[in-house]
Amino acid sequence: MKKNIGVKAFLKTMGLQKNLKTKQLDNRLLISLDDEGKTKLEEVWEQKYYGFASMLDLYSIPKTLKQACLLFSHDYSRIEKSMEWTTQKVLLLKSKSILEMGCGFGLLIKFLQTRDPNLRLMGIDQAHNLVDIGTDLTGINLIAGNYLEVKPQSSYDTIISDFGFDLEDLQMPNSEHQYKEIGDVSICINCCRDFKEKITPYIKSWRKWGNQNSNLIMTGRLTRNHSYILATLEVANEYNWNLDMSQTKILQTYNKHTKQAEKFPGFVFNSNNENKVRENFQKIIHML
Ligand SMILES: C[S@@+](CC[C@H](N)C(=O)[O-])C[C@H]1O[C@@H](n2cnc3c(N)ncnc32)[C@H](O)[C@@H]1O
Repeated sequence: MKKNIGVKAFLKTMGLQKNLKTKQLDNRLLISLDDEGKTKLEEVWEQKYYGFASMLDLYSIPKTLKQACLLFSHDYSRIEKSMEWTTQKVLLLKSKSILEMGCGFGLLIKFLQTRDPNLRLMGIDQAHNLVDIGTDLTGINLIAGNYLEVKPQSSYDTIISDFGFDLEDLQMPNSEHQYKEIGDVSICINCCRDFKEKITPYIKSWRKWGNQNSNLIMTGRLTRNHSYILATLEVANEYNWNLDMSQTKILQTYNKHTKQAEKFPGFVFNSNNENKVRENFQKIIHML
């Protein structure tokens, strides 16, 4: 593959579909599966309709690169944006070793290989089938497992979570809203408390794979509720990860499901013990 291929061209080469509609992607994926896969996918769709299936049920469907590309094409616009931004940040940080949490089938890792073949790259994902596809794609023995449980085998300069977890899996309790002003920004303190409880094991487990000076590059749909952003910054701060505001950005994309423009944060955390959480939180909200 060409060394400095752009993200769009790269995704096209891999087989991601930019222009297909949701229904077309679903049909193509269904047709590509064997009988067992077809039955499983139809069951997952039905369970998802009733809110029973987990995202892992869906991620467990693809067995080939083509099938994985069809499934992930639902999120094409987001993948393109976050891959471009995350890669830019990785190169800027000049990290030598990088671990991606929730690496899926290794798309970002493959792209990083084209940018700098000397990087020591690793990824971990709970969907064993995606890890198998990613291992073939990248030539790296990616780790299959739940990063909340797997014991670190090495440490890395930069940890990435590029949409490396699903909000759907966090199962937030239905607490009553109670609003509080943080400067000129209003947040629900109960949602913040609940999200802190959910996100803590994630950030704690990612931290274990870093060294003293590791960075965390993180993107995710945290804009769904402003209190999620505050909760994330507070938990990261507890683990000595604080925002580099000069590198933090709001990324804009188009969500095929909601058929609306979507904004999500791209965070770069550095290892230090400063505490500007509330100040940074307000700045981020103003950037949205
Ligand atoms: C939204 S997908 C994103 C995949 C990839 N980072 C991308 O940008 O295309 C989330 C991925 O995180 C993985 N994941 C979520 N929670 C995980 C956990 N606790 N341990 C390992 N992988 C996890 C899922 O299996 C899935 O592949």
